[in-house]
Amino acid sequence: FSLEHLKLEYPVYGSSDYRYPAVEILQENGSRISDFTYVSYTIAAGKPKLQGLPATYTEKDEEAQTLCVKLKDEVTGIVLELLYTIFTQRGIITRSARFTNEGTSSVHLLNAMSLSLDLPDKDYVWMQFSGAWSRERHVKERRLEQGIQSVGSIRGNSSHEHNPFIVLRRPSATENAGEVMGFSLIYSGNHRMQAEVDTHDTTRITVGINPQNFCWQLPAGESFEAPEAVMAYAENGFNQMSQRLHHFIREHIIRGTWQKKERPILLNSWEASYFDISEKKLLKLAKEAKEVGIELFVMDDGWFGERMDDSSSLGDWEANTKKLPGGLKGLSDKIHGLGLQFGIWVEPEMVNVKSKLYVAHPDWTIEIPGQPHSEGRNQRILDLGRREVQDYIIESMSKVFSSADISYVKWDMNRTFSDYYSTALPPERQGEVAHRYVLGLYRCMRELTERFPEILFEGCAAGGNRFDLGILCYFPQIWGSDDTDALCRAEIEENYSYGYPLSAVSAHVSACPNHQTLRNTPLETRFQVACFGSFGYECNLCDMKKEEKEAMKEQIALYKKWRKVLQQGTFYRGRSFYDGTQSGMGGSVLADEAGNQMEWTCVSEDGTKAVGMLMQKLVVPNTQQQTYYPKGLLPDVRYHFYNRKLKYNIKEFGDLVNTVSPVHIRQDSLTHQVLSKFVKMDGETEDFHAYGDTLMYGGVHVSPAFGGTGYNDKVRHYPDFASRLYFMDGEVKK
Ligand code: GLA
Repeated sequence: FSLEHLKLEYPVYGSSDYRYPAVEILQENGSRISDFTYVSYTIAAGKPKLQGLPATYTEKDEEAQTLCVKLKDEVTGIVLELLYTIFTQRGIITRSARFTNEGTSSVHLLNAMSLSLDLPDKDYVWMQFSGAWSRERHVKERRLEQGIQSVGSIRGNSSHEHNPFIVLRRPSATENAGEVMGFSLIYSGNHRMQAEVDTHDTTRITVGINPQNFCWQLPAGESFEAPEAVMAYAENGFNQMSQRLHHFIREHIIRGTWQKKERPILLNSWEASYFDISEKKLLKLAKEAKEVGIELFVMDDGWFGERMDDSSSLGDWEANTKKLPGGLKGLSDKIHGLGLQFGIWVEPEMVNVKSKLYVAHPDWTIEIPGQPHSEGRNQRILDLGRREVQDYIIESMSKVFSSADISYVKWDMNRTFSDYYSTALPPERQGEVAHRYVLGLYRCMRELTERFPEILFEGCAAGGNRFDLGILCYFPQIWGSDDTDALCRAEIEENYSYGYPLSAVSAHVSACPNHQTLRNTPLETRFQVACFGSFGYECNLCDMKKEEKEAMKEQIALYKKWRKVLQQGTFYRGRSFYDGTQSGMGGSVLADEAGNQMEWTCVSEDGTKAVGMLMQKLVVPNTQQQTYYPKGLLPDVRYHFYNRKLKYNIKEFGDLVNTVSPVHIRQDSLTHQVLSKFVKMDGETEDFHAYGDTLMYGGVHVSPAFGGTGYNDKVRHYPDFASRLYFMDGEVKK
């Protein structure tokens, strides 16, 4: 008999279970062995708060029940409480662990996972969402095998590289069928997501703070709480898992004024003028923004201290009056005068050596005294584990936020940790620096969001370097990536959608050629890809042609009409660019088309309205017979299906995407029964009426203009990266 052959709920180090443990406690005598035995349990309605950590919440106690299992290690006196919250919404359980030292000596926690889950077999495909700056969240998959598969971060934030969200799926699972499980951590710092398959082919999942460089002193009488982890289960494929998570995140993670409020369409100044801003320039841009229907004007980096580039002034949060003669208030009044809301960029966690703040408090940064420091974007990280640093951030930001009529704040964080050290902690507590930083950050975010409940906060960390459920507990949206290229963004957004609602992913229309990739994509595609996220613009409208601005105006008006569906609806993935890269599915777009289309649908909560998008990567001559398959419609509701006629001549822009294509129902694939449901069908037009089941199962044939020959632009309507939006408006029976 060995514990190794049992499924364990929270395995310890140093037993007859030789797999990786959930907990490891270093005692004064050097032993790391503990043995937790059952004491008692409670079941309570609702969801308790966690000390200093963001967590899921309920509005009413009936929405969840929490089981707390109490265990004790008799040798050390450590009490362990395992918390399990089961939500009335199907398919989600959250977990966390609380340690209280009821003994007489101090111990060190070396490992304290948020969850450990032993599964009966190893028949799973592991999916991770990896990348780097400007190419976040690429899906990487492989079959689980004996040994360890893990991703994590030791960069101090949840990282561009490996998101704290992983998926296990049965090998046969697809978007709409089969068993899929998602695991996510409500935490913004160093994490580890791991699957261990033992030689008996069982799988252990552990999720929690990365034990690397973690060592938490727990003196007698004190408690430590591990962050909460979320487990999502779906019996019907990826879409079901994602939708369960989307709903859950919108109801039990995102909170406050903006939880259910429609988000404004913004224009951000960054890609329009980078650091080179002035009141005059910004007002010119804002006037153009107002003209096309934008609602919120955001001034990005460059407005404070002596900031001309990234080498100075972080920490000195006072407006540069050479750039903004009337300060923030002067500019904000003028922006409001144009009928726009006003927002700003800040990066409160950082300091440049060239700043008044660094001169005043050189010891406030995370660096090792007397040792050379690794630089990152010319800036250093403030030691947010220190109370006085947190207070500085809270007070300096409160001053900024109340100095003008500010309705939006982009909170950036542009470097990763390297040389971990806090001059405020003794040598034996240096293993606490990274977690103390995150706790300090959460205190700042909590205080500021409570003081300024009406402000719409957007998280950012050089794009998606800190995109996680911890941040979303305070800020309802996060800038998804510094890559604004529509082709890359389509993939990035789709991959975010596995674990996060797209309303939490900010996405902007930017200029062409794109600043990150130099690629040209049609304006219409840029709009369509961005409008599925938290929508905005980030380009210099003053440089744009009249026709482009006309097109934007029309796109913005359209977005406003469908905003509620896009921001609050249920999102479905259809075909994907990723299909072309999965093993055994080809990969050559030009040869077999696998992975050449991206297909999304967003359906209103009541199912009566939907917006769809079909995007192609590359034109393949003489082959494309495309069909758009909507998803999530009500089978017996009759929908008005249409795409829009575009007035402007897009050829002026150097692309051809916007000419209207004929759309018709593929009659040959319909049964008599389904056909009899038609009341009106206009044949070769984009505008007809059909029942939900007809649309979903027959599909809408997009022919034959998707492709065609090159020399005749009457036929060749869709260039590379083209996409189309489709609208479905259901008839509601009175
Ligand atoms: C980061 C952000 C960008 C922009 C710049 C400003 O890179 O991700 O969107 O705000 O900082 O310096």
